[in-house]
Amino acid sequence: MSKVSIATTPFEGQKPGTSGLRKKCRVFMGEHYLENFVQAMFDGIGGVAGKTLVVGGDGRFHNDVATQTILSMAAANGAARAIVGQNALLSTPAASHLIRTMQTDGGIILSASHNPGGIDEDFGIKFNMPNGGPAPEAVTNAIFERTQTIDTYHIWQGDSVDLSTIGVSSLGGMTVEIVDPVAAYVDLMQSLFDFPAIAKMISGGLSIRFDAMCAITGPYARAILEDALGAPKGTVTHGTPLPDFGGMHPDPNPTWAHELMDEMMGADAPGFGCASDGDGDRNMIVGPGCYVSPSDSLAVIAANAHMAPGYADGLKGVARSMPTSAAVDRVAEALGLDCYETPTGWKFFGNLMDDGRVSLCGEESFGTGSDHVREKDGVWAVLMWLNIMAATGKSVPQIMADHWTRFGRNYYSRHDFEAIETAKADALMTELRGALSGLAGRSEGPLTVAHADDYTYLDRVDGSTSAQQGVRVVFEGGARFVVRLSGTGTSGATLRLYLETLETNKLDLEPQEALASVIAAAHSIIGIESHTGRTAPDVIT
Ligand code: G1P
Ligand code: ZN
Repeated sequence: MSKVSIATTPFEGQKPGTSGLRKKCRVFMGEHYLENFVQAMFDGIGGVAGKTLVVGGDGRFHNDVATQTILSMAAANGAARAIVGQNALLSTPAASHLIRTMQTDGGIILSASHNPGGIDEDFGIKFNMPNGGPAPEAVTNAIFERTQTIDTYHIWQGDSVDLSTIGVSSLGGMTVEIVDPVAAYVDLMQSLFDFPAIAKMISGGLSIRFDAMCAITGPYARAILEDALGAPKGTVTHGTPLPDFGGMHPDPNPTWAHELMDEMMGADAPGFGCASDGDGDRNMIVGPGCYVSPSDSLAVIAANAHMAPGYADGLKGVARSMPTSAAVDRVAEALGLDCYETPTGWKFFGNLMDDGRVSLCGEESFGTGSDHVREKDGVWAVLMWLNIMAATGKSVPQIMADHWTRFGRNYYSRHDFEAIETAKADALMTELRGALSGLAGRSEGPLTVAHADDYTYLDRVDGSTSAQQGVRVVFEGGARFVVRLSGTGTSGATLRLYLETLETNKLDLEPQEALASVIAAAHSIIGIESHTGRTAPDVIT
């Protein structure tokens, strides 16, 4: 029962520019590995002496053990107080909310998001700032620098915390507060959405399926949909968080949430279907026979958010990541809203929200959220859709059809080519970047390249720039494709190809069909097959 300082050596930690550390679980379980990173994190944020931190994670394998280690290290490093979700559980948006409302100095979130969990799968850790959002590059770089020089870590040995009992205890000189992971979040949702109207719609016959994919949102969805809104028990499926997510790949897209998709495309589909990911920040929305692409979901929310009480005064502005479709831009233009484009990743939205420029943000990768927290929020998106349905009296297919009639339809798809040899993926990107300046005017079938570039972002709030954020090739008439390499994969490289074309007349095509000429042009220009041997993607969303 004392503080010990253990000698250690520099190690391979997080890549500079990434918002956290993600590795195979067994790597994190290796001697000193987690400890090294946690100490580098503490040192990188200027120490934790006297500070209050939120700690929690998505319940995946090692979540509880890692939480004990982090608490022991926070105590030994002089932290004043830790606020921890019961059983070390907190969804990412709920953690963001606690970090903000409990006036803390930030928080540590344990998750590898939508990646599978288990001893042979992924684990992750990241630091969020006092505003509730992921650490910006200056901070993650400082953490990275520290991993290169670290020589000692401090840990309190001999005691552990009872994570299962709500209440206050102490560890070393640090106060530990175990809190209900769900309660404060439910209050927040109740303050934003018209619960009575949604409850009435449900009691009036709307059936819902929420697939929590054996991950963190089960307890949140049950408390909200089944307990507060009166949906029947069993509305939430796969509702108990399991260390290996029950073997599911908790990524809410048509490929991985196939059980939900089958049900929603079947004859007895419920009126509304939805799913969330490992840590609860992603969402997928599906109506009976009607999949809603995330880019369209963002546009629909932009057009209708004012129907929810928390957004009754209208949106301040909207933002989308660069590869996300321009569907939301069309809404913003019609409503006179400012519309911002940022690089991939939620951290870029934080500055815009903190500066009061935007209150709605979204990414094509099943992420939608608002300035109620500083992370994307899966359950929030589900409630926003239910609120819009309750306010309009329309079904999901009706909402989509009316939206496209009013704004046109940005047909959209993302093709992922996974586990490519890193060297081959890098060579592909280098060659493509080298060819960009000569692409204008090149014809591919019916399409002619108008311009091509490698996206650089200028943050209007802090003046920073981020280069090489994705190659975009825009054709005359506005169709385009974007190519970038994933920053979150843990094996090899994942090439993401984002495809988009606008139609104002033909509104009921199949997206892959509507995009056929863009897909062909992209393959020809990028040379995916010659570089990687791949002719078809592994995942289509
Ligand atoms: C992926 C998504 C991106 C999202 C991130 C974290 O990153 O594409 O939009 O912000 O996960 O959820 P990527 O693997 O593409 O770098
Ligand atoms: Zn996630």
